[in-house]
Amino acid sequence: MARLRTLGVGPGWHCLDVGAGTGTVSRRLLAEAGVASVLAVDRDVRFLSARPVSGLDVLEADIRAPDALPGRFSLVHARFVLMHLPERDHLITALAELVAPGGVLVLSDAVDLTSDRTPGTPYSTVMRAMWQGLRATVGTDVSWVPSYPHLLRGAGLGSVAAGIHVPPLLPGSPISRFWADTWQRSRAAMLATGLVDDRAVDEAVRYLDSEECAALSAGMLTVWGWKPGEAPR
Ligand SMILES: C[S@@+](CC[C@H](N)C(=O)[O-])C[C@H]1O[C@@H](n2cnc3c(N)ncnc32)[C@H](O)[C@@H]1O
Repeated sequence: MARLRTLGVGPGWHCLDVGAGTGTVSRRLLAEAGVASVLAVDRDVRFLSARPVSGLDVLEADIRAPDALPGRFSLVHARFVLMHLPERDHLITALAELVAPGGVLVLSDAVDLTSDRTPGTPYSTVMRAMWQGLRATVGTDVSWVPSYPHLLRGAGLGSVAAGIHVPPLLPGSPISRFWADTWQRSRAAMLATGLVDDRAVDEAVRYLDSEECAALSAGMLTVWGWKPGEAPR
């Protein structure tokens, strides 16, 4: 939200939230940024439809067919969506097409900040298994994410820039609880990689919640680029 507000998103903006999930960002755009409207698109709209609010329009659609998405928007936004879709390269071009002249495309996805020199810890071992398991089962591939600025430029957007948010892994912090919960839900896929067993996952959960933990979380890269032209807002 801080980035979106800095980019000027606010009253008068018509927004598209792609893969909106439960609608966290869509609802905050309306309630906090005061935008005019948000079209929230997802292939599963149960959570979006469950809590209607004024200005929030819900569309059940597969975003891999973006031609089905109506109109042009001052903001086109997708968070933690494209990293899961093998068509991400083509989709970035298609989403850029949906930005109105003077509008902005904003994408956020996870970046893996480990390297060959990252020390082996219970956390790093399990994270490696998680990325590999998600890739095998869902098609998730975060290795593309650092290329997003280049891809946005290639899609004809200007003034492209990006930043990374890396929340600290402190015991009991929201991000630590998020990873522990994610490991529980993707445990089967992680075990199937052969890189970890149940004991390793349990140990990593304990490690994450202990004072012993000394690790770097995956980050969230946010990239944005502007469509040339005057804003019609
Ligand atoms: C990790 S969630 C992110 C939700 C939301 N953007 C957020 O950041 O809170 C990914 C969302 O993308 C949706 N999604 C994945 N593939 C999709 C597709 N092909 N078409 C439409 N929605 C899709 C999922 O249903 C899910 O709600």
